[in-house]
Amino acid sequence: VQTYDGIAALRERLSAERAAGRRIALVPTMGSLHEGHLRLFDRARGLGDIVVASIFVNPLQFGPAEDFDRYPRDLDRDAELARGRGVACLFTPATGEMYPSGPNRVLVRAGPLAERLCGRYRPGHFDGVLTVVAKLFNIVRPDVAVFGRKDFQQAVLIRAMVEELNFGVSVDVAPTTRESDGLAMSSRNVRLSADERAHALAVPRALEAAQRAFTAGERSGAALARVAAGVIEADGAAQLQYVHVIDPRTLDDVEEAAAGSVMAIAAFVGDVRLIDNHVLT
Ligand code: PAF
Repeated sequence: VQTYDGIAALRERLSAERAAGRRIALVPTMGSLHEGHLRLFDRARGLGDIVVASIFVNPLQFGPAEDFDRYPRDLDRDAELARGRGVACLFTPATGEMYPSGPNRVLVRAGPLAERLCGRYRPGHFDGVLTVVAKLFNIVRPDVAVFGRKDFQQAVLIRAMVEELNFGVSVDVAPTTRESDGLAMSSRNVRLSADERAHALAVPRALEAAQRAFTAGERSGAALARVAAGVIEADGAAQLQYVHVIDPRTLDDVEEAAAGSVMAIAAFVGDVRLIDNHVLT
């Protein structure tokens, strides 16, 4: 793996790759890589001839009271893991390389899809995500970009941005990778204490309970949400931020759930915010 912290050198390399007719697959990340990211790299290898991964903890997508300073970072380990999974180029810009004029000079505005779910509780978050992803698309000019489904609303917004701004990048969204006990992999999981790690399981259990209720015939979106909320409340330590049963295209709550409706949850365990979702089947 070749590491680039400058935009110009990365662009030069990628121009040569493009000229040689290679398809470029991009996996944007914030580092602190786990098996979920590594599977995105595997997927990217199948979709392109050369895999570019970016590692950039984007200050623009963190609120003032959020965990930007506490977000885990481990570049040496990340480079080793990326190398092991066939990443050719690792783009690791400093903040000044990405935002030489400071952040907030020009932003991509996420629009109404960002007004619900996580966006309701994290004002400006998705503007920050879309701005950095737009920059990464313009820097790398990938043929295809791969994202994880755990960040469901993010994936919907990125697809919407690509459509609305005509990026001409194909967006691939990969299934969530879980630990053997069901917890969705997340870079933030390393911030959970052993005790909190046990309580974090309330999140996947809530999704499983809702799926069981759906399988048993419950179709009311509100009732399914109450089932999930009940599991989180019963845990005692996990604090529910939201649970919604939504239409995966509009992100609107559904009155009547159907196969393909998505249950999305956000909860705090200690000061760690966890999100997860499940497509009802
Ligand atoms: O999902 C993430 O890790 C980030 O939101 C992303 C897409 C890399 C943008 O900073």
